[in-house]
Amino acid sequence: MKEFEIFYDIEELDNESKYLVHKAKEAANFAYAPYSKFHVGAAIMLEDGTVLTGSNQENASYPLCICAERVVLYTAATQHPEKQIMKMAISAHRKNHKELSPASSCGACRQVMSEFEERQNKPFEVIFLKSKNEWIKCASAESLLPFVFKRNNLHE
Ligand code: THU
Repeated sequence: MKEFEIFYDIEELDNESKYLVHKAKEAANFAYAPYSKFHVGAAIMLEDGTVLTGSNQENASYPLCICAERVVLYTAATQHPEKQIMKMAISAHRKNHKELSPASSCGACRQVMSEFEERQNKPFEVIFLKSKNEWIKCASAESLLPFVFKRNNLHE
């Protein structure tokens, strides 16, 4: 698979990816985002087909807000530590808006996603909406963060 694939219609995605986007979309409804009003959902598919979801959770102390991506990754690490992550999908919308908003994961989440790949010694796909009707499927999280800081940097 290429590093990045672009799909101009969600229907062009493979069924598994479409399903995961659908689960991410549902999860965005559980966001707690009274400050940004930007509701994000993330869904992960594990090696055995288990699907886990997360949503962004904000706080009046703004720096404590956590993105949907990290919520679902830490859930996977806690509830299914022995299972590999195969795929992640992200979906977002603004409060009271039906149409999806593009949401490309922030740098902090890319850093965390990348270390999850390192932990399981295997990349996982990341699917998100880049702009209106432009879905991106990345072969790995690390491709979203070249020259990522890794744990071996601490010891070299
Ligand atoms: N957010 C996510 O949850 N994931 C992203 O990919 C981008 C941003 C959240 C963080 C914050 O609660 C709100 O969206 C606005 O930045």
